[in-house]
Order: sequence, then C-alpha cells, then structure tokens
Amino acid sequence: MGAFNFCNTEILRAIAEAAVELKTPVIVSTSQGEGVFLGFKQARSLVNAWQEQLGLDLILHLDHGKSLDIVKTAIDAGYDSVHFDGSILPFEENVKITQQVVEYAKQKNSVMVEGELGYLRGASAPGQKVTIEKNDLTDPVMAIKFIQETGIDSLAVAIGNIHGIAQGGQDPHLDLARLSEIQRAVVGSVFLVLHGGSGIPDEDIKQVIKLGIVKINVNTELRVAYVNALRKFLQGSPHETTPYKVMEPVVEAVKSVVINKIKLFNQ
Ligand code: G3H
Ligand code: ZN
Repeated sequence: MGAFNFCNTEILRAIAEAAVELKTPVIVSTSQGEGVFLGFKQARSLVNAWQEQLGLDLILHLDHGKSLDIVKTAIDAGYDSVHFDGSILPFEENVKITQQVVEYAKQKNSVMVEGELGYLRGASAPGQKVTIEKNDLTDPVMAIKFIQETGIDSLAVAIGNIHGIAQGGQDPHLDLARLSEIQRAVVGSVFLVLHGGSGIPDEDIKQVIKLGIVKINVNTELRVAYVNALRKFLQGSPHETTPYKVMEPVVEAVKSVVINKIKLFNQ
C-alpha cells in the first residue's frame, strides 16, 4: 500500500481523488509537524469526510511520532495507525517507549503500531547529500528481538533508503540482499515498511515489493509537485487571487504523482 503524507486539504484531496480513480485503499499520513500544522482532530474530520463522500478506505496514520505524548495525541484524535520513531535512541530505550506505545494503542480500539529499527538519513526535500553508514542499516537479528519485545504490527527498515531525493535526482540503489535477510528473519510476524519512497528507481520499488515490503511512504515527490505547480501557476497568472483557482493545477499535479506511484506499487 502507498502511504502518502499530507498537511493541508489540497494534498489530501489529491490523494483521495487518485485513490478513488484507481479504486485502491490508501494510507494518508501526517508527520508530527504536518499533524501539528493541520491539527490532529482536523485531519481526522477531513479524512472522515472524504471516506464518506467517496466510499473509500482511507487509513489515517501518524508518521514519525517522536515521543509517547505525540503518539497519544494522534491516538486520542482517532488515528487508525501510529508510527513511533525511536530509531535515534539506544536499542533498549527504543524498545521501552515502543512497548508503551503498543500498550496505549491496544487499549484504544486496536490502533496499529509501526516501530522503526535502523537509522534513516535525510529529510523530505530534494537535493539530499547523505552518506549511509553500515551501522545505519537494520540488523535482521536485532529486528526479531525488537519485534518480540515490543509487539509491534509493522516495522520500518533501513536498507539504504533515505528521506528525500538524493542530489542528482535519484536515490542510491537499495541493499536488497539485506532486505531478503530481514524478510526471512521476521516472516509472518510483522508487515515490513519502506520509508523514503521518493526518488527510488522504479525497478528497486518492484524488487522490494517482491521481497516483502507491504507499505511504502511517499512525501517529497508530492511536495515538489505541489510547489512547482504553484510557482508555475503564479508566474503565469500573477493577478489571479481566487485561492480555489490557484490551487486547481496544484491538486492535479499532486494527484498525478500519487496515481503514478499507486500504479507502480500495484504492478
Ligand atoms: O515517512 C515519510 C516517508 O518516509 C517519506 O519519504 O519524503 O523520501 O518520500 P520521502
Ligand atoms: Zn519516513
């Protein structure tokens, strides 16, 4: 499944319209910053409205919650699924907070929990200059231990993926051998998640899906489409002041990126 980030009504509209066009359920995510900007309850209400109108399955997900408090805020607002990202923490600390997240989530209508092990460099923007260290990558043996100790539903892995798009336009190739090892180690116990879905060559995306990735997160390509379409429109029509006219080509541009990603993921 594609998991697409949004921080405003236009991007959510683009994702929802793409999903309905392709008759595919999708995950719509807000990162911590995106959720704070839009409002967690507001995100829940907007997604409910699109679901009702389109009769479509949209799963509302918190992406990269960095503290137990922010995860609780999302769960209390009615999110269906949450990601606690403790990847920067020492292993035991990551386990401890992820366990608390799982405990809280299970009390609240079985909200799904994604954990993260391994360190993902970069940020959701183009032009990333990152050097991936061997230690950043998810260790298959530690992954089993992490899953058993935390009880998570899904695991975000680091296999050479980065957040954002690498300088030059395309991300480095992924370590598919490592993904195979992780898949063999954890098979059947969790769903595997690939972050940093922007800028990855299509062939690598097809391979990771074959090797067990079931959720792919995409943000940067939507952001780039959004601002490029907005800039282009305003340059071409500097006197237009009606927001819904300004946003029309922006929604179309984001929608087209989402459509292409969903088609790629469903191949
Ligand atoms: O959590 C969000 C994703 O990992 C987005 O990554 O900005 O590289 O598409 P991206
Ligand atoms: Zn991510």
